[in-house]
Amino acid sequence: MNIILLGAPGAGKGTQAEKICEYCHIPQISTGNIIRAAMKNGTDAGKKAQEFVNAGKLVPDAVVIEMVNERLKQDDCKNGFILDGFPRTVPQAQALKEMGVEIDHVIDIEVPDETIMQRMTGRRVCGDCGATYHMVYNPPKVENVCDKCGHELIIRKDDHPDTVKDRLQVYHEQTEPLKGFYENLGVLYVIEGTRAVEEVTKDTLNALGAQSALEG
Ligand code: AP5
Ligand code: MG
Repeated sequence: MNIILLGAPGAGKGTQAEKICEYCHIPQISTGNIIRAAMKNGTDAGKKAQEFVNAGKLVPDAVVIEMVNERLKQDDCKNGFILDGFPRTVPQAQALKEMGVEIDHVIDIEVPDETIMQRMTGRRVCGDCGATYHMVYNPPKVENVCDKCGHELIIRKDDHPDTVKDRLQVYHEQTEPLKGFYENLGVLYVIEGTRAVEEVTKDTLNALGAQSALEG
């Protein structure tokens, strides 16, 4: 099952991708996490990406497409994957098609901009594995410690309110047109993303036809 998660910054793509991974046993491919790891490790791609990410702009298509192309060749993607944060422009969607990737489901998580601004102030992420938390809505078991790997939680640099505003504008201009792109292909499902995390997960698994994963 090849899945794309669409949605504004802060809509809950990362949060839901982590849940779907657990239930469906397919990897989460988050371009945001890949880019942040590249920046942390000081790779060439990471250096190219840094100024764009910190300013809330999109990293150039060619850089991201190359990253995804390499990642999808890895063995763990053979039975499917969840793309979280890619594609984000029409040229990226076209590149995915040219790679020969068939997409089964595109889940669009809808959350209004005002709610997103509130959510971002409480977000914490693991500085090591990238897992996502919220201080109120999705807290870790031990304060400031990642449930998954035990590392310290940090605040993302691009979660400053001014940068979030810029990211929302970029989303509306460059990423939202993808809804039409995938609607035309008949694979788009729209999910109401303002309810509790577990409710959104239920709807998402339903849309994927994988609701039995919740019972098993
Ligand atoms: P990326 O890391 O992908 O950021 P984003 O799209 O802006 O999305 P976020 O990770 O901010 O939000 P999310 O939807 O994952 O929400 P989350 O689950 O964390 O990209 C960062 C940057 O990298 C980009 O700006 C760009 O520069 C670059 N980049 C990445 N991909 C690129 C591409 N393809 N092309 C070009 N550039 C690219 O949830 C948010 C918060 O809300 C969390 O605290 C969470 O706990 C909480 N929450 C989640 N769901 C709920 C709920 N239902 N109720 C209450 N709280 C909730
Ligand atoms: Mg994310």
